Amino acid sequence: MQVETRLLTPEAEHLAYAAMRLAQGHLVAMPTETVYGLAANARNADAVARIYEVKGRPSFNPLIVHAPDLPTAETIGIFNNQAKQLATTFWPGALTLVVPLLPESGIASIVTAGLDTIAIRVPAHPVAQDLLHAFGGVVAAPSANLSGRISPTTAAHVMGGLDGKIAAVIDAGPCEVGVESTIIGWQAGRPVLLRPGGIPIEAISDSLGQAVTLPAANMDPSRPAAPGMLSSHYAPQASVRLNAKAAEDGEFLIGFGAVTGDITLSATGDMVEAAAKLFDTLHRADETGRPIAIAAVPSNGLGRAINDRLRRAAAPR
Ligand code: TXA
Ligand code: MG
Repeated sequence: MQVETRLLTPEAEHLAYAAMRLAQGHLVAMPTETVYGLAANARNADAVARIYEVKGRPSFNPLIVHAPDLPTAETIGIFNNQAKQLATTFWPGALTLVVPLLPESGIASIVTAGLDTIAIRVPAHPVAQDLLHAFGGVVAAPSANLSGRISPTTAAHVMGGLDGKIAAVIDAGPCEVGVESTIIGWQAGRPVLLRPGGIPIEAISDSLGQAVTLPAANMDPSRPAAPGMLSSHYAPQASVRLNAKAAEDGEFLIGFGAVTGDITLSATGDMVEAAAKLFDTLHRADETGRPIAIAAVPSNGLGRAINDRLRRAAAPR
């Protein structure tokens, strides 16, 4: 779908316009101190699904949610003492913290890819701050580039990939840091480095008075070390059968298009709707305790990412 992408400058009227577009479920590229981010209302599943659509991402990785400050971050995540210490020391700044998701956060499940943790960061860039305040909510924002391309550090980079696909780009000049944020999470109560980035790991270890290590999965050579790795994704307890036309003995059927299930990803075959509902639907199916069957979903557009996720859900484990 071709849209007119407005190139905005960081003055108040333009930011009010960008905030309005976010509230309407549209995508806006915003400057941050690390790289330009492609922002969507993190509480609007369809809007977040469109991030995947316009980036042409072949899989669903959990996304970073951007908040204006720590008190707002505490309305979506649960901060232990170490997380609070790091937030107080490094926010606003190039640090992302992966913390338990607050159950009543209202964050769309496609943001966390169905996980019960959430990645949160408070950006330091004054324009990102102004936009978040004007919007009055929190935004999911991966780097504003096409999948597989270089992260954008200028508005021109963003326009090069996304012109005609998103509502607006706010041009605030080049990003200062130029690499993505450092991501810290906790495993068995210990701080781990999930992605090196704009803040050196030594500074984080110093602040905690404790060495931050690599996550356990990264030290096991038989398992992939890349972020968004398989093991970090939500997988249903039950067995999953793909390309189902009808339910077989006791199965809970997830429909799509003409296949009407116990529940459907999209009765009309709408890929944005299907992506937006995917993780909630898997959770709901799993909660029945029955084996799960899922109708075929075509592989065009967002279908690639949906099918990637479904194949992982169905993989033997
Ligand atoms: O600098 C940045 O962080 C940029 C700017 C735009 O703010 N944003 C960015 O966002 O890089 P994104 O959404 O592309 O980063 C996603 C990374 C992935 O590596 C993903 O695996 C990790 O965050 N991540 C997100 N949620 C996670 C979770 N619950 N558990 C583990 N890793 C998570
Ligand atoms: Mg990226």
